[in-house]
Amino acid sequence: MRMVDIIAKKRDGEELEKAEIRYVINEYTNGLIPDYQMSAFAMAIYFQDMTMKERAELTLAMVETGDRVDLSEIEGIKVDKHSTGGVGDKTTIALAPLVAAVGVPVAKMSGRGLGHTGGTIDKLESIPHFSVEMEPSEFIALVNRNKLAVVGQTGNLAPADKKLYALRDVTASVNSIPLIASSIMSKKIASGADAIVLDVKTGSGAFMKDYDQARELAEAMVEIGEQLGRRTTAIISDMSQPLGYTVGNSLEVKEAIDLLKGEGPNDLYELCMRLGSQMVYAANKAKSLEEAREMLDEVIENGEALNTLKRFIESQKGDPSIVDDPSKLPTANKLVQVVSPYTGYVKTIDAEQIGIAAMQLGAGRATKESRIDLAVGIELHKKLGDHVKQGDYLATLHVNDRSFEQVVQMVENAYGFSDKKILPPNLIYEELI
Ligand code: URA
Repeated sequence: MRMVDIIAKKRDGEELEKAEIRYVINEYTNGLIPDYQMSAFAMAIYFQDMTMKERAELTLAMVETGDRVDLSEIEGIKVDKHSTGGVGDKTTIALAPLVAAVGVPVAKMSGRGLGHTGGTIDKLESIPHFSVEMEPSEFIALVNRNKLAVVGQTGNLAPADKKLYALRDVTASVNSIPLIASSIMSKKIASGADAIVLDVKTGSGAFMKDYDQARELAEAMVEIGEQLGRRTTAIISDMSQPLGYTVGNSLEVKEAIDLLKGEGPNDLYELCMRLGSQMVYAANKAKSLEEAREMLDEVIENGEALNTLKRFIESQKGDPSIVDDPSKLPTANKLVQVVSPYTGYVKTIDAEQIGIAAMQLGAGRATKESRIDLAVGIELHKKLGDHVKQGDYLATLHVNDRSFEQVVQMVENAYGFSDKKILPPNLIYEELI
């Protein structure tokens, strides 16, 4: 087999054979195909797309270049949740204990944040002494005991994807549905869950700004998951404004705790309920999505979700007393208000700009090496459709040592206003079940 022939075949829009896809992925991972040929191949896929069969083969070929996490010693159907990333997305921190409280085993591997979106691991590390490092045997034992454990991504999961993603990033071929779908799903499949629930976000703070593209990505990932024998469902959810009211690590943990106390913001609550229902249903713990939702509401009301969170924190060496007293979380030393220049209705909030503003305060990483400040961030007071008067607070910045003058301006500029009444957007556009 010659790489040049395979590139030409894809360039001309033909379907590749399994053996050809395997050859490309294995040889590239082993350093036997140079970057220039692989980037031509990625660009050919970008323009010519891939059939569903090719996408599933590509995903599996990437999975098989690395380790697969073995979760077989965990009792029950393991369901993983994946979000394509957004601003203020603290869903996992609330959702994981919520579904664990109704008996769904959650064995989660999470990542750190990069750029304008945050990562679950960083958020969890704002809980004093919390640790995401443990041996695989301890991870499995914790899930069997508490139904929940979260570890940082370790091991050698889908190394082909890691190498290819870095190449795509610098050759303008990230934004291709077959390449994104196979990249995300290769890591999910390698992580070992039996079922996968996807939260594909669309809007100003999302990777997929455009709804049609988000839908296409969701469909592609569901199809790959199903072809590879994992029950896979998806929700397409709104990211045209940050989720909830907070952006920044410890601020988001507090908001997730509020949710489990029955005091969370409506959008976060609704998203957790919809994703959670799919997870409970996929784990065969409920006969319908409606029944699953009732179970989730019950564990919020009777405090079992909150107790599960406390057990989870304690088991991972964190301080569980932050649940009853979130003021023990890292706190910034200065609050700075962002004031509305306008009287009217909030028409737009550029979520990406809010994410970048939070990053400039120190809440996120500009590069992999940057250190983050767990206490800083942005608390919004106004969301889409809200009425504001000139001089009202739009947001509060939680600030430590970084300069904030430019950030105040960025947050103000992220807001757009209208004199006419504005309806808030739908949170859930569609469920692919
Ligand atoms: N996230 C991934 O993991 N892969 C992509 O290709 C894009 C986003």
